[in-house]
Formats: sequence, structure tokens, C-alpha cells
Amino acid sequence: MRLLVCGGAGFIGSTFVRQRLLEDGDEVTVLDKLTYAGREENLQDVAERPGFRFLRGAIEDPAAVAGAIEAARPQAIVNFAAETHVDRSIAEPDAFVATHALGTYVLLEAAREHELRFLQVSTDEVYGSIESGSFTEDSPLSPSSPYSATKAGADLLVAGYFHTYGLQALICRGSNNYGPYQYPEKLIPLMILNAMHGDALPVYGDGQQVRNWIHSTDFCRAIGHVLAHGAAGEVYNAGGPDEQPNIAIVQRIVELIGADPAQIEHVPDRPGHDRRYSLSSEKVRTLGWSPRVLLDEGLGETVAWYRDNSWWWEPIRSGDYRAYYERQYGRALR
Ligand code: NAD
Ligand code: TYD
Repeated sequence: MRLLVCGGAGFIGSTFVRQRLLEDGDEVTVLDKLTYAGREENLQDVAERPGFRFLRGAIEDPAAVAGAIEAARPQAIVNFAAETHVDRSIAEPDAFVATHALGTYVLLEAAREHELRFLQVSTDEVYGSIESGSFTEDSPLSPSSPYSATKAGADLLVAGYFHTYGLQALICRGSNNYGPYQYPEKLIPLMILNAMHGDALPVYGDGQQVRNWIHSTDFCRAIGHVLAHGAAGEVYNAGGPDEQPNIAIVQRIVELIGADPAQIEHVPDRPGHDRRYSLSSEKVRTLGWSPRVLLDEGLGETVAWYRDNSWWWEPIRSGDYRAYYERQYGRALR
């Protein structure tokens, strides 16, 4: 296929691009604004592959999107482009509204004009928190943060374009992803790098919040199944095989790294913190998908990846991320 992948320089987007180029033999054009989280080095191992093209631009910029479509001549658009960190959305929601609402709208208009299949990458966070059982695609949307509220808004816009214009649009909602190339603001890479450096490990509240973890390669394969076999207008949930309270993940990372358990510190909880996420993936399983990576195995490999790839995280940890960390946690990194 010829694909336009928006947000393809981020953590999950770059994983998807790698799969599509190396495993599926697709042609892939990436359109990415390169925010703090978007990094060309995430794609450096595939940059010279035939069929790969990188364009810097914002999805809310109609000229950038038109240029990308002209260059790529895609059969489908897959949209990963987003602001993705809940804590940043609490501190500064502006960019979340611009990218998720306006950006998704500009892409939908382009898909409509060129009659392209459109896949929106979304999140379990649009359903809000669930005490027991798992969310299905029919669960009501009940987002808690500016991040999840604007992602839910984008999903509704996608649904509106299907119903109104017959756009061949699909939505794939993933649970919490982990794996190589994840920006260290997120729980797992933050704890790995802090554990390695002897920094405190800041657990929000009691640490009993539960997340449903999926390896990024499994989520990307689910997106591929939905793109190839999903029915237009439908939503597909892709949840990982394991659910764990945050504190258990942090303790396991401490063990894997051989860090000092005394580094773990309980810090004030996140406002509006969702207690538990859990997704039922029955529907996407009917398309032939199932997750391959269990958390225990995937977490060990992820720790090893961060240990072996300081070239990737050193510029981040010595750059703007330090100032973000100080603002967010009220203390400096070592
Ligand atoms: P990320 O923050 O690592 O990457 C986001 C990418 O989007 C970056 O490359 C960034 O430069 C780009 N981007 C941001 N705003 C843009 C704009 N206006 N125009 C063009 N590019 C822009 O995020 P990620 O974790 O890879 O998440 C990718 C997608 O998957 C998002 O839509 C997110 O909501 C969704 N998702 C993430 C998770 C998770 O656990 N990380 C789980 C489920 C769904
Ligand atoms: P995060 O990686 O930010 O993903 P999300 O909020 O989208 O689920 O956080 C995962 C969980 O880890 C969430 O319950 C918040 C918690 N958390 C901490 O306890 N400490 C931290 O420093 C961070 C970043 C997250």
C-alpha cells in the first residue's frame, strides 16, 4: 500500500512505519510537526529505505497536508499525530485542542476530497475509568483529562465524517503502550531512566492505579489489521494481555535494573487521575489479531533497550526534558 502516516516520528508512529516498510513492503510518507516528542532519529534505521519519505509539517496546516498528499499519492491516511501526555494536558491544554480538534478536521477534509481510507489512532482513555470488567466499543465516552477529552472529540469528528459524507473512516483505540523509543515523560521509560541514574521514582498517590499494558509492536499490528480488514465507520479496541498496578511495574523495574527500592517515592496524585483502564479486544480479534508480547518479557526487553541505547535518550535527558521534569516534579534530575 501507499500510506500517509501522520505523527510517524513519534513513539508508536515510528514503530508502525518500521513494520510497514520492513515487514509489509509498503510505501510510507511521514508527515510530522516534530514537537518535543517527535524525533527524526526514531526513524533513522529506515530513513534510507526505498519507498520512505519524511515531510515536516503540522496536520492543522491545510497546505502541509495538501503537499503531503500530492507527494505521497496515498491510498490511506493513518493518523498518530497527537499531544500525548496527560500531565502536560493538565498544565497546558492549548496544543491538545489545536492538534486533536483542528488537526483531525483538516486531515478528514483532505481524506474526503481525495476519497481516501482514514484510520484514526485513539486511546482507551476516551472511555474514562472502570472499576471492574472491561470497556467494549459500545461503552460510553467519559473522558477525564484535557488529553482524553480532546481525543474523544477527534473520535466523534471521525464518526461524523463517516455518517455524513460516507468517508471510509475507522478508529483503533489502544491501551497503554510501552516499548523502545517512548519519550521518557511516560511511566515506564521515566522509571527505567530514573532507576538507572539513581533519581527518585515518583509514584503518584498510592500507586494502585491499574493500566492495561500493550507492547507497541502489538498495537501497531492491530492497527494494520484494522486498516486492512476493518469495516468503515467501526471502532476497534486493542488492549494488551496484562493489567498491573503502577507500583508493581515500578518495583519490577527496580528489580530488573538492580536499583535501590528506597528510590521509590509516593508523590501527590495527578488531578482527575483515572483509577483503572481495561479494554476488551474481542472485536479486533475477529479480524485475526492477538497480542504476542507478555508484559514480563516485553518489560525486560524494554529495560535492555534503554540500557543499550543511551545515544537515543542522552540528548533528551540533557535537553528541554530537564526543565519539564523540574516544573512537573519540583526537583531536578541528576
Ligand atoms: P508521541 O507523543 O510519542 O508522538 C506523537 C507524534 O505526533 C510526534 O512525532 C509529534 O511530533 C507528532 N505531532 C504532534 N502534534 C502534531 C501536529 N499538530 N502535526 C503533526 N504532527 C504532530 O505519541 P505516541 O505515544 O506515539 O502516540 C501516538 C498516537 O497513539 C496518539 O494519537 C495517541 O493518542 C495514541 N495512543 C497512545 C498510547 C500510548 O500509550 N502512548 C496509547 C493509545 C493510543
Ligand atoms: P502515563 O505513562 O502518563 O500514561 P497515562 O496517564 O496515559 O495512563 O502514566 C501511566 C500511569 O502511571 C498513570 O496511572 C500515572 C502513573 N504515573 C506515576 O505514578 N508517576 C509518573 O511520574 C508518571 C509519569 C505516571
